[in-house]
Amino acid sequence: MKVVAHRGYSGRYPENTMLAFQKAVETGCDEIELDVQLTKDDVVVILHDERIDRTTDGAGYVRDYTYEELKQFNAAKCWDGKYDRMAIPTFEEYCLWVKDEPVTTNIEFKTSIYYYEGLEEKTIELLRKYHLEEKAMFSSFNHVSLIKAKKLEPDIACGILVDDELGNAGYYCSQYGFECYHPNGAKLTGAVAENCARHGIKINAWTINDMALLERLGDLNCSGAITNFPGICRAWQQAMQE
Ligand code: G3P
Ligand code: MG
Repeated sequence: MKVVAHRGYSGRYPENTMLAFQKAVETGCDEIELDVQLTKDDVVVILHDERIDRTTDGAGYVRDYTYEELKQFNAAKCWDGKYDRMAIPTFEEYCLWVKDEPVTTNIEFKTSIYYYEGLEEKTIELLRKYHLEEKAMFSSFNHVSLIKAKKLEPDIACGILVDDELGNAGYYCSQYGFECYHPNGAKLTGAVAENCARHGIKINAWTINDMALLERLGDLNCSGAITNFPGICRAWQQAMQE
């Protein structure tokens, strides 16, 4: 099962920062999950919340700042000075770094609360610029975003994010040409896993921070575990193989 670092190695480092991404790769994870949004001047940036209040020392919405303004804020705020000041990364900065790293990327379009105009186009443009199409997949709670991305770049796999279980997720995904189902792992049932298998849909579940849940995903033949602790997941998997 693929180990996917959720917002990078976010259990130990400031989420969605270059440091968290670099540390995730050091654990030997297979994939990095990150969230993208657009600034006021249409720069694709990596941040989970639509507001910057929780994770930075600033306040307000991402969409109300230019990147020049946004990068002044400290994205390591939550760690009480444990880490040096660091800026919210742009997706381009990430692409430039990840193109030489042995990992794939799960790019989540944050388009549920505010549907950024052109986010999918701009993200795909950057993936093409750095020849990353084969090392990327898309996910979103806003399935319209995925329909759009699939139309723009059919070869990049898409995974629908859901919190509450979707009873026939396999059928649903197959109708839209989506390759993956990304459920809340704690709510995934055997029946839905079976429905996905029947329709050839892969399951990557979130957010898997305990080993009993990781083991259960293995039993349900999931493809990936999206976790805040990629190092621990990888070590656990290796220990189980010994
Ligand atoms: O991709 C899994 C996960 O990122 C979905 O939830 O809110 O952490 O982006 P969230
Ligand atoms: Mg996410």
